[in-house]
Amino acid sequence: MSKTALVIGASRGLGLGLVKQLQAEGWQVIATVRDPQRAETLTSLAGVRVETLDIDDMASVDALNQRLAGSRLDLLFVNAGISGPRDASASNAAAEDITALFLTNSVAPIRLAERLLPLVEPRNGVITFMSSIMGSVETGPAMGMPLYGASKAALNHLTRNFVASLGEETGLTVLSMHPGWVRTEMGGDQAPLDVETSCRGMVEQVTKAAGQRGHRFIDYQGEALPW
Ligand SMILES: NC(=O)c1ccc[n+]([C@@H]2O[C@H](COP(=O)([O-])OP(=O)(O)OC[C@H]3O[C@@H](n4cnc5c(N)ncnc54)[C@H](OP(=O)(O)O)[C@@H]3O)[C@@H](O)[C@H]2O)c1
Repeated sequence: MSKTALVIGASRGLGLGLVKQLQAEGWQVIATVRDPQRAETLTSLAGVRVETLDIDDMASVDALNQRLAGSRLDLLFVNAGISGPRDASASNAAAEDITALFLTNSVAPIRLAERLLPLVEPRNGVITFMSSIMGSVETGPAMGMPLYGASKAALNHLTRNFVASLGEETGLTVLSMHPGWVRTEMGGDQAPLDVETSCRGMVEQVTKAAGQRGHRFIDYQGEALPW
């Protein structure tokens, strides 16, 4: 029987790449976008169930949860994220940009995972949060974009709390994933990796992780990263 994945934030970039790679490997895929009118490539893929979701909006998350009632997810991949203004620092960023960055990147992914948790296969399901090496407290501060890095560090922190709440007996595996530096709207033209290479690697790591249990911060090649 084929496995089922839910990819959150799949209109473009890595989310769209994940959908294509999962499909190519035989998964059934449910994919969410904020606006299906602006996700033509995704909506033209045969066999993908497309749902509308703004991860920041809990009513939208609850509505998705109801529409998915009865589904069984082998993978929940929370990919949605924003970079915020490129030059934003703690001293110059506007309050609304800081709020948006930490809501979308840090808090909303965890809230969504908590809500959708009952849908995830409890014995060997995988929940993956799209993190970043910039969120490493050890190595991230040298890389620029300090507020973006802090938002991913906060995501990692909240993910560890989320994992603790699952209890010792859970069969779930949780991954905090760094996709590499990838050529997308967020990653820019100078990034060394293409979407296909990153997504092939991430799907390989997710597939390997099923049933291993625990929580790891890794990149698309499976390398462990410093917290
Ligand atoms: N590219 C890199 O080098 C890199 C490196 C490390 C980590 N990451 C992370 O990887 C993830 C994907 O990045 P990307 O490079 O593919 O960026 P991207 O091309 O800018 O795509 C971002 C995706 O997130 C969605 N999104 C943003 N806010 C959302 C919200 N409130 N609700 C639902 N969906 C939302 C966007 O949907 P819309 O089309 O509706 O805006 C889009 O599908 C992000 O979490 C990013 O932080 C990327």
